[in-house]
Amino acid sequence: MISVGYSMYAIPLKIPIPHRSDTKIKQIYIQNKSQLGTGNFFMQLLPRVTMLLQPSNDPQNARRYISSHYDDSDELFANFLSPDMNYSCAHWSGDPDEALESAQKRKVQRLLQKAQISVDQHVLEIGCGWGDVAITAAQTTGCRVTALTLSDNQKRIAEKRVKEAGLEERVRILLQDYRSATGPETNGGYYDRVISIGMFEHVGAEYLDEYFRVISSLLHPGHGVMVIDGITMTHKVSRFVPSAYLRGSNAPP
Ligand SMILES: C[S@@+](CC[C@H](N)C(=O)[O-])C[C@H]1O[C@@H](n2cnc3c(N)ncnc32)[C@H](O)[C@@H]1O
Repeated sequence: MISVGYSMYAIPLKIPIPHRSDTKIKQIYIQNKSQLGTGNFFMQLLPRVTMLLQPSNDPQNARRYISSHYDDSDELFANFLSPDMNYSCAHWSGDPDEALESAQKRKVQRLLQKAQISVDQHVLEIGCGWGDVAITAAQTTGCRVTALTLSDNQKRIAEKRVKEAGLEERVRILLQDYRSATGPETNGGYYDRVISIGMFEHVGAEYLDEYFRVISSLLHPGHGVMVIDGITMTHKVSRFVPSAYLRGSNAPP
């Protein structure tokens, strides 16, 4: 018997999870659906009540929440993420045998394509995780990237990966809240692109307007493009999962 859960609680499941088997994880969800959030009334209620009681997701609390989630163990994340260390939802092909890494690569390529980045541009990435998107953007387009995280561990690992890729001149990783981000010194103080993946569900309902206001103020008014990918509240599971695994978060409708 093993447990799967987010940071707040663990739920005993009925079948063991083999190492890195995405298809099996989907099967486990289907077989344990009642406990994982669609059938059990109390399991659904608990995280919602917790969400109502949680304190504001102001910059101080946001830093605390992120640190408590990401800064305990690098090994934990390395064990269940694909080797590129992308964390947010992958874009699956529909083939049940597809590997997580391939679906994550598809997501990164697709979102970078949408951003239409060119070599002379400067990209702001809000919520860069362990740096894969920032590195891939710089490698594939030649652009510059300023990338923000609130996790010490993510910053350290992302910087190591940037160095290993020889991109220190073009990719900067900052430990900084999006609310205090400033524009670059060149380009009239504007970024050409803003990319934010798996991040706006961490913003919290009360700060969503502020999040978009900040992006709007940093993005070039003439040719700026914003690419955002995240979880919205399209069904019951997505509503409770973000608040259950990370305090301060909320999937907007
Ligand atoms: C779920 S992770 C997504 C990481 C990466 N974009 C991915 O898709 O794998 C959320 C990221 O947002 C960052 N983050 C959360 N709140 C933030 C804030 N207020 N300001 C800046 N970054 C923040 C976290 O540090 C983390 O890197």
